[in-house]
Amino acid sequence: MVSSDRLHVIDHPLVAHKLGILRDCDTSCTKFRNLVSELTTILAVEATRNVEVQDKPITTPVAPCVAKEVARGATVVSILRAGNGMLDGMLQLMPYAHVGFMGMYRNEETHKPVHYYQKLPASIVEDEVFLVDPMLATGGSSIDAITELRRLGVRRLTFLCMIAAPEGVEAVLSADPDVSIYTCALDDHLNENAYIVPGVGDAGDRIFNTLNVL
Ligand code: PRP
Ligand code: URA
Repeated sequence: MVSSDRLHVIDHPLVAHKLGILRDCDTSCTKFRNLVSELTTILAVEATRNVEVQDKPITTPVAPCVAKEVARGATVVSILRAGNGMLDGMLQLMPYAHVGFMGMYRNEETHKPVHYYQKLPASIVEDEVFLVDPMLATGGSSIDAITELRRLGVRRLTFLCMIAAPEGVEAVLSADPDVSIYTCALDDHLNENAYIVPGVGDAGDRIFNTLNVL
């Protein structure tokens, strides 16, 4: 069992309920996509708990008062493709966020990530950065993304996923001394194809309805 103060597994009955539907192989693509979005917003509420705020004097229709506002910008970085399924959920909570993309897919034999695209806003160096990908399996993809973000100068970094495998959590936490992980579930193990068990299968295919591709 992985235990770390940098691993946060959401413990909530409605998250458990929604995850059950997400995992079910009879759940439609539309339903799957909507659930990923809903679960992401719930996850994001937890993952943004320590975002800095500052005082902001305002006037309500009744009286002046000192309200709060976020003190710095945010960037959501999506690991393509499946990370895009979490973007709407993140932006529901942080409509002011910038969005960046890192394209990578796992080689089916080696299970190592292959990079094919990158587009990141310059603000990431100063922003609170939230890296999103529904699946943390071996950790190869997220470690590559985190390493690149650190190389670019990102200091405040949080990783959000729907489902994590213990192997991936260990790998990410060992690879980076500061990143925190927020997940809806910590599953049992990886199978011989490096798929999370019980997991949801291929998240990208279930989000984008590409179970049968050319
Ligand atoms: C999936 C998933 C992660 C990665 C996780 O992407 O969305 O990016 O695998 O596995 P890892 O922790 O072992 O690296 P996939 O390679 O299926 O690409 P896709 O999002 O384009 O479907
Ligand atoms: N990628 C997925 O989409 N699912 C897994 O279980 C592992 C990697």
